[in-house]
Amino acid sequence: MSMPTFTAFAHPNIAFIKYWGNRENELRLPVNGSISMNLDGLFTRTTVTFSASAQTDSLLINNKQVAGPGLTRVSYILDIVRGMANLQDKAEVKSENNFPAGAGIASSAAAFAALALSASKAAGLNLTEPELSRLARRGSGSASRSIPAGFVEWQMGKGEEDSFAFSIAPVDHWNLVDCVAIVSAAHKKTGSTEGHALAGTSPLQNVRVDDTARRLEICRTAILKKDFEAFANIIEQDSDMMHSVMMTSTPPLMYWQAATVGIFHEVRAWRASGLAVGYTVDAGANVHVLCLADSAKEAEKRLREVAGVSDVLVAGVGGAAKIV
Ligand code: DP6
Repeated sequence: MSMPTFTAFAHPNIAFIKYWGNRENELRLPVNGSISMNLDGLFTRTTVTFSASAQTDSLLINNKQVAGPGLTRVSYILDIVRGMANLQDKAEVKSENNFPAGAGIASSAAAFAALALSASKAAGLNLTEPELSRLARRGSGSASRSIPAGFVEWQMGKGEEDSFAFSIAPVDHWNLVDCVAIVSAAHKKTGSTEGHALAGTSPLQNVRVDDTARRLEICRTAILKKDFEAFANIIEQDSDMMHSVMMTSTPPLMYWQAATVGIFHEVRAWRASGLAVGYTVDAGANVHVLCLADSAKEAEKRLREVAGVSDVLVAGVGGAAKIV
């Protein structure tokens, strides 16, 4: 007998204050809290069916069968769900997304948020938002932030139970736009999971972690007050601090390309001349240029003219993960 099929939809998110390093790897308990915004228009859609007749879990991503580590990571979440629902059935998971994977747009965030929601529903569970955020976190830390709507904070928590994300402001609170300048669509060499494990080898990581409460406070307040100048300054500092840790890890991680740095200079010059733009970069070479909606068209146009930029994706503020 098959159980009902559920399809869930989730957006990726861009972190303004970054998650970099775990204090507990298996549970994905972070060394610091983080703040992000969901990205509208970009999404992962995932369908889960548990079936008594299936011999193993199976995973189809963009119509391609996936085995190995990708499937193991999905089965890890399905095992947690089976444990919670007291279910033995294996599951068929089908997932599709509309943005390039591994290009500095955290595809794992949308993927595990959509999986947590669809798998728990398909297993007959009705989890609360914090429970879903915790479940998504186990698959990918940043996925905890793709469960709630709009502007989101993931509190590091004291333990497993209170390490989840919640909205700090709804979608319509502030009309921010993320213009993602694509510098490289190649799959990154060192993924976030391996990167988190290296964070502690940098002598700068403790300094970054010890300063997090200050950055979280400035960023949260800037969002709540819609203070773009303060917002742009803190997201750039936070991103530069995370990349300083990456570059000084053993072995060192250098995600930036020449074009990445070229965009930093442009963005700062544009802001100085009155365009409301600020940059942040995840574990990749692409630059997320956050703009006030009024500046977005102009920012997109100028980014397209910068040497080394092959494309620009434009996304507004996205909603919560939901069942479709
Ligand atoms: C640089 O959530 O992708 O994007 O938990 O191993 O899947 P895993 O890592 P992930 O790390 C995200 C790192 C980041 C910063 C951020 O999104 O906060």
